[in-house]
Amino acid sequence: LKAARPSRLGLDAFLEHYGDVFEHSPWVAETAWKQGFTDQHDDPDVLADCMGNVLKGADIDQQIAVIRAHPDLAGKAALAGELTQDSTREQAGAGLDQCSTEEFERFQRLNQAYQDTFGFPFVIAVKGLDRHAILYAFEKRLENDAATERQTAIEQIIQIARFRLHMRAAESA
Ligand code: GUN
Repeated sequence: LKAARPSRLGLDAFLEHYGDVFEHSPWVAETAWKQGFTDQHDDPDVLADCMGNVLKGADIDQQIAVIRAHPDLAGKAALAGELTQDSTREQAGAGLDQCSTEEFERFQRLNQAYQDTFGFPFVIAVKGLDRHAILYAFEKRLENDAATERQTAIEQIIQIARFRLHMRAAESA
């Protein structure tokens, strides 16, 4: 079955649809649109690849700014209900809103240790993981060097974007 080719969206419409796929970083979608690779915007994997390539090709400073745009997992902002809709859904999907007091405190200690070590928050694509798996990955990744963690965070952010794009495609189908 061949889907009809979607017409190209103008920049404003494209940003309205996809500007928030990368957390608080609409410049990623904007750059992808300007490169002209976003015509097949109905294919989540095509979009994830072309926007992901923008992020991979960005300066280290820009990459770090995108990583820093992410909220802590099970953090104070999550407790206060201050996350974006996507983050709220992702964190709840991994059961992070159901942490015991001990688990919550463990997240706070790890968030602080990770931030102190790398200067940006711990980002992981939480789809399919529960909080035990997340805590395990958290402790493991704390042992990495900064360049490896920056690289890993960028890959995880692209994975999160891919998942968000698939969710949107499914919801609008
Ligand atoms: N992975 C999926 N969603 C999130 C989020 O909101 N914050 C962090 N740090 N990682 C995530």
